[in-house]
Amino acid sequence: MKKSINIDNVTVNVFENAESGSEYVANLIQQKIDKNNRSYTSTVLGLATGSTPKKLYEKLIKAHQENGLSFSRVTTFNLDEYYPISRFDESSYHTFMDRQLFSKVDIDPERTFIPDGEIAKEEVAAYCEAYEDEIKKAGGIDLQLLGVGTNGHIGFNEPGTSIDTRTRLIDLHEITREGAKDDFGGIENVPKEAITVGIETILDSKEIVCMAWGKHKAEAIAAFMKGEITTENPVSYLRTHPNVKLVLDKDAASLIEDY
Ligand code: GLP
Repeated sequence: MKKSINIDNVTVNVFENAESGSEYVANLIQQKIDKNNRSYTSTVLGLATGSTPKKLYEKLIKAHQENGLSFSRVTTFNLDEYYPISRFDESSYHTFMDRQLFSKVDIDPERTFIPDGEIAKEEVAAYCEAYEDEIKKAGGIDLQLLGVGTNGHIGFNEPGTSIDTRTRLIDLHEITREGAKDDFGGIENVPKEAITVGIETILDSKEIVCMAWGKHKAEAIAAFMKGEITTENPVSYLRTHPNVKLVLDKDAASLIEDY
């Protein structure tokens, strides 16, 4: 780690690169799961997609294969899924999670929850309430992993989202659809909506680890650390949470003073 500082409730840990930052987060998660496994308790993880957590998932797979990390008592809730989308679509977050983590560790598929992009429109509202209920039934999220969009979104809570939001269907911002166009082979193929957990759902987690790598994240991170808590930068809501770790590489930290 290059540097660690505390601002309000947020611990900011800056690493040389995404590799060492991901290693740090993988160790945190492994320790938590191992400790809970030893006392036969479950661990509830909130999971993110996108490029940010990919290295972390690689490291967790390695820990499973080489250090005996077991996911058999782990329950996971993903933040979001495009809508509408088939779970078997190459670009769905279901496919992403299967490929990046679930198929390579000993997790029980019955304990992995991802918002369902195939639900009929008229059933979405009830489905979203049921998703929230599942999180409660599991005992709440012990550790929520987050990436951050270049526009400051967390999950798919776009700028303009209020703090009291729960799981729901949202309209994706054009900048977010633009960012996803390569995954879908053109912007015309990117779904216009998504189901995402809300800001309040995220803030209910016992602990939050938000990761950001690269210069293109530096502005959102600087606004989060230095600016106001505002609907225009949803990641800034994390400042209201008592236990947040921000894990950055030096490029993502480049616009925070003192770095
Ligand atoms: C997507 C996801 C977010 C993710 C963000 C950042 O929109 N829904 O959960 O954090 O993009 O993406 P990336 O990690 O690829 O930079």
